[in-house]
Amino acid sequence: MEKNDKLEKVTSWAKRRGFIFQSSEIYGGLGGVYDFGPYGIALKNNIKKLWWKTFVEGREDVVGIESSILMSRKVWQASGHEGGFNDELVECKKCNQRFKADDMPEGKCIKGGEHELTEPKAFNGMFKTYVGVNQDESAQTYLRPETAQGMFCDFKQVMEVSRKKLPFGIAQMGKCFRNEINTKDFLFRVREFEIAEIEYFIKPGEDEKAFDMWLEAWEKFVLLVGLKKENLRHYDHPKEGLSHYSKRTLDIQYNYPFGWKELTGLANRTDFDLKSHAEASGKDLQYFDAETNEKYFPFVVEPTLGVDRLVLAVILEAFEELEPRTETTEAATEKEIVLHFPASLAPVKVAVLPLIKKLSTDARKIYDDLKTCWPVEFDESGSIGRRYRRQDEIGTPYCVTVDFDTIEKDQCVTVRDRDTMKQERIKISELKNFLFDKLGSF
Ligand code: GAP
Repeated sequence: MEKNDKLEKVTSWAKRRGFIFQSSEIYGGLGGVYDFGPYGIALKNNIKKLWWKTFVEGREDVVGIESSILMSRKVWQASGHEGGFNDELVECKKCNQRFKADDMPEGKCIKGGEHELTEPKAFNGMFKTYVGVNQDESAQTYLRPETAQGMFCDFKQVMEVSRKKLPFGIAQMGKCFRNEINTKDFLFRVREFEIAEIEYFIKPGEDEKAFDMWLEAWEKFVLLVGLKKENLRHYDHPKEGLSHYSKRTLDIQYNYPFGWKELTGLANRTDFDLKSHAEASGKDLQYFDAETNEKYFPFVVEPTLGVDRLVLAVILEAFEELEPRTETTEAATEKEIVLHFPASLAPVKVAVLPLIKKLSTDARKIYDDLKTCWPVEFDESGSIGRRYRRQDEIGTPYCVTVDFDTIEKDQCVTVRDRDTMKQERIKISELKNFLFDKLGSF
């Protein structure tokens, strides 16, 4: 499969199977904004749950919060976003289309070939909004472009209420908004997306060690969600290209069909943010170190992750189009699509399929029982081959088929494995334990 062909196939599969589709589609869509359908939100939530479990519940040195999307405009002035969260905007002198200068490396219009472009102009990527009834400058603020600033503003409170000492981290995930000049590549560059990130506060001097520790933890996580090592690489930003607050920035890039691109990143933000907010707010945001009797601004290492970019990578990694695997069904002439999601991420864990409708009442009893443990689907329509295909296409790891022997002979069901297509007869009384071994609890 050609590489970009894969992105097109994944985009159309995601829409057809109700994972992800354009927002406001009935009105022609809104650029760079997507909706997650029933399976899509289940997949995304599973990724988020795993992240929270790994980095918040699984660690003693990290606590979770949820700060608000709307914050005082002063936050964005102090953080440098109001003055500097800019992209370079260029306009084609002939087509009048506007582009991000970074996307036009030759300095020529990508649509019109040789057309000349205007000189780059700074374009602020934050969405403006107003709080309250006055729609003027005094009421203006922005939708947050990152979750980080909420954690810096809440640093002192959170540290006190959770009785933490350095080193410790604050984690959160949530919606962020960026008015990207050009959106592209499905979920890769969008205007509304989720970030999951941690601000890890440390004593100055311990930042480089913390950076390495978080790089290792972050990499482990992207492997845990099923990305292959050979599709991941590091990109260390050159010193001269670093943001104003950063001592070191490193991206973990993924080998997307449209090239190696940033999936997630780590930054050594030094003491820039806490110092800026202390200065602008007049509040003391220093840490008192009882061991050394000193007061100082902690340094911050920030591992950050775009959840939607990760959802896209997980789907691309799991998506496979195959020649027909079975010869016994009417669907045998069509190519098959299988999503090899890790079981922990699959939107549906098990499907219960009565061979024919007559067996539905008995099959429903099994479904009702399994449903208390996992997200399970019941499907009685179409040939058994078609139903297997439907489940393969949404990445359901196991199908449980109820047939005549189940009822009349052996009280066993057939459990089919999505990836190997191996089928095993399992006693109904042992089915839950069998599936627990494979899936764990939900
Ligand atoms: N607090 C640090 C921060 O916001 P960032 O690199 O600007 O850093 C964090 O963004 C992550 O959000 C990126 O690693 C990327 O995965 C994701 N991201 C950034 N812009 C995005 C966009 N327009 N669409 C989708 N994901 C985006």
